[in-house]
Amino acid sequence: MAQWIEGTVVENIHWTENLFTLKIDADIDEFTAGQFTSLALDIDGERIARPYSYLSSPQDRPLEFFFYTATGGVLSNALVKLDVGDKVFVKQQSNGFFVLREIPECEEMWMLGTGTGVAPFFSILNTDEPWQRFNKIVLVHAVRTLADLRYQEMVEVLKEKHGDRFLFQAFVSREVVASTINGRIPGAIEDGSLEDRVGLKLDPEKSHIMLCGNPDMVKDSVGILKARGFAKNRRRTPGHITVENYW
Ligand SMILES: Cc1cc2nc3c(=O)[nH]c(=O)nc-3n(C[C@H](O)[C@H](O)[C@H](O)COP(=O)(O)OP(=O)(O)OC[C@H]3O[C@@H](n4cnc5c(N)ncnc54)[C@H](O)[C@@H]3O)c2cc1C
Ligand SMILES: NC(=O)c1ccc[n+]([C@@H]2O[C@H](COP(=O)([O-])OP(=O)(O)OC[C@H]3O[C@@H](n4cnc5c(N)ncnc54)[C@H](OP(=O)(O)O)[C@@H]3O)[C@@H](O)[C@H]2O)c1
Repeated sequence: MAQWIEGTVVENIHWTENLFTLKIDADIDEFTAGQFTSLALDIDGERIARPYSYLSSPQDRPLEFFFYTATGGVLSNALVKLDVGDKVFVKQQSNGFFVLREIPECEEMWMLGTGTGVAPFFSILNTDEPWQRFNKIVLVHAVRTLADLRYQEMVEVLKEKHGDRFLFQAFVSREVVASTINGRIPGAIEDGSLEDRVGLKLDPEKSHIMLCGNPDMVKDSVGILKARGFAKNRRRTPGHITVENYW
């Protein structure tokens, strides 16, 4: 049985009205980049817990998480109010199979995330393994508005470090913003505009696609990719598509 550790908030960054980052000190067990833990608070005498992906990498401290306040959501609306020094429960052991050891050999990795679903990709990209395994890595972050497009400094550092092996493409769906795609991920896979903008082809011989965040984005993208010859990656039948749904 996993145990709760009492963590301490060391920073709460309010990016927008709905978007924030918590940095937390907690003495948890080792985790693998791409995994999630649970965070919890006692609210009205009840421990309310939800899963959250690490944005930070296993070697980094403090732990870092990236959140939306869900409309009417119990836990996210309590987490956003935490101040430096406040306590938050963190599960001692982490979970999840959205990790590179589950990915079969391939040359090119595509990481597609909506909203806060970009978090596990940063956790993975800030480790050595993806750069040892893949020739090229494409990170796609799809958000509603430019204000939601966070962690661009981290993208810049990755570009500087990895040059043309690292390709980044943003989608901003509800505003027209230069150098971003004004639309949604599934449509841009279907009409080829994502590949055109990135300058790389999705190819079942070479590519693996990881998808994270909005379950409708995941479902629609998987349907379009399957029609192009990509298959879901399962332990017994390795394929090209690995997914993490946030709700
Ligand atoms: C494996 C996993 C990892 C997750 N990692 C993160 C993370 O890193 N950051 C994060 O903010 N959330 C993450 N979530 C979602 C998180 O667990 C909660 O569902 C979310 O914080 C809402 O909790 P709540 O109690 O406030 O609202 P709830 O009442 O539980 O949810 C209300 C509704 O909000 C919507 N929603 C939930 N999560 C999100 C989201 N991230 N972005 C937009 N809409 C959402 C859904 O429509 C959901 O039904 C993850 C979920 C899973 C399963
Ligand atoms: N982001 C905000 O400003 C905001 C404001 C109020 C409340 N919230 C809360 O946050 C939640 C949404 O947060 P979010 O903006 O991260 O999530 P989101 O609704 O998943 O939007 C993130 C990106 O995913 C796209 N998307 C949505 N549905 C899709 C689908 N079926 N297929 C492909 N792409 C899809 C969105 O495009 P579209 O724009 O085309 O939908 C957007 O570009 C809401 O449910 C609410 O609780 C957020």
